[in-house]
Amino acid sequence: MDFELSDEQRLLRDTVRDFARQEVAPVAEELDRTKSFPYELVRKMGELGLMGIPFPERYGGGGADTLSYALAVEELTRVDSSVAITMAAHTSLGTMPIHLWGSDEQKDDWLPQLTSGSKLASFGLTEPEAGSDAGNTKTTAKLDGGEWVIDGSKQFITNSGTDISGCVTITAVTGPGNGRPEISNIIVPTGTPGYEPGEQYRKMGWNASDTRPLTFDGCRVPESNLLGRRGDGFKQFMQILDGGRIGVAAMGVGLAQGALDEAIAYAKERRAFGQPISTFQTIQAKIADLSAQIEAARLLVYRAAREKDAGRSFTLTAAQAKLITGRLAVRATEEAVQIHGGYGLIEEYPVCRFYRDAKILTIGEGTDEVQQMVIARQLGM
Ligand code: CAA
Repeated sequence: MDFELSDEQRLLRDTVRDFARQEVAPVAEELDRTKSFPYELVRKMGELGLMGIPFPERYGGGGADTLSYALAVEELTRVDSSVAITMAAHTSLGTMPIHLWGSDEQKDDWLPQLTSGSKLASFGLTEPEAGSDAGNTKTTAKLDGGEWVIDGSKQFITNSGTDISGCVTITAVTGPGNGRPEISNIIVPTGTPGYEPGEQYRKMGWNASDTRPLTFDGCRVPESNLLGRRGDGFKQFMQILDGGRIGVAAMGVGLAQGALDEAIAYAKERRAFGQPISTFQTIQAKIADLSAQIEAARLLVYRAAREKDAGRSFTLTAAQAKLITGRLAVRATEEAVQIHGGYGLIEEYPVCRFYRDAKILTIGEGTDEVQQMVIARQLGM
């Protein structure tokens, strides 16, 4: 495997690193505290080309590979997870299904506004009774006079209720199927009568990102809003989740790295027993262990991205990367808080927010237990 990044990949990574330090870091604490969606940052990310990194240039995208996308997600999360998940959910979950399975007309309609970041897309898979058991979709879509009539609900949907939310692509049962219900994907534009995003959840972390339940009550969209082939919905969304897991795994590496950065800086500055705590072996051992684990996890994430870019199967590696990095982020942020002592519990210190932002990484985009299932199945069990 080639461990070197190309010039383009390095340039993108450094651009995002500068953007995160100069534009995101100064406002991250306030956005989190006031639970404010980062509209201004999304606008700037759109201008920088960060809202459509892996999509074709003819649709306004960056035409870049998955590794470039993962590098950008990693650098954003190193500074702030809310901004990172806004970009990542929009890209690999919201826009990707339209890029992969959209008709020419659907792509022309949606991709330019999504890749520019002037509109956000979201991914409507999870339901009250369909979380880990994602195939247990209860939302229905019935054809009536050339329109889909959608009834049901979704939950935990990122980017669905902002002022710039453009559409959600949902799974819905469109027929009895053969043995198990026929599930299809349908694009529902924001503002369609009968489609209502609910109130924001009060969350433990990712406070500046937008997450809501959705209800569909006799919501009618044209038959042509079907995405891809009727009945392919579940498989399409499983494929999307595989790719999305690379992005969330990159978040885990970025968050762990951000926690390590803060812990090192604090340990050099904080004095106890007459010397900086960075000189104590117990602190050095924590830092050294974390740095080794982060580097190993980073290589696994990059490997999953390279497998996807090479057109090889990456389901196994993406699940392994997601499993390892979520746990690592939880451990790294906890250790960073520990090194900060009492200050680690004070919100002015980024590690306090990092700690709250970490836990979701062992749950979102498939729990650790789902990753274990996926890995075991890939190993033939
Ligand atoms: N790619 C393509 N096809 C796939 C696939 C994949 N990765 N995984 C399964 N399929 C296909 C299977 O081949 C099978 O097809 P056939 O009927 O032709 O055999 C079909 O889909 C059904 O597969 P399974 O029998 O394996 O399905 P299952 O019901 O046992 O579920 C599961 C498998 C892995 C547990 C799946 O339900 C799953 O991944 N659940 C977790 C869902 C999840 O990650 N949700 C996160 C939502 S998004 C999110 O969280 C975003 C956020 O935080 C911001």
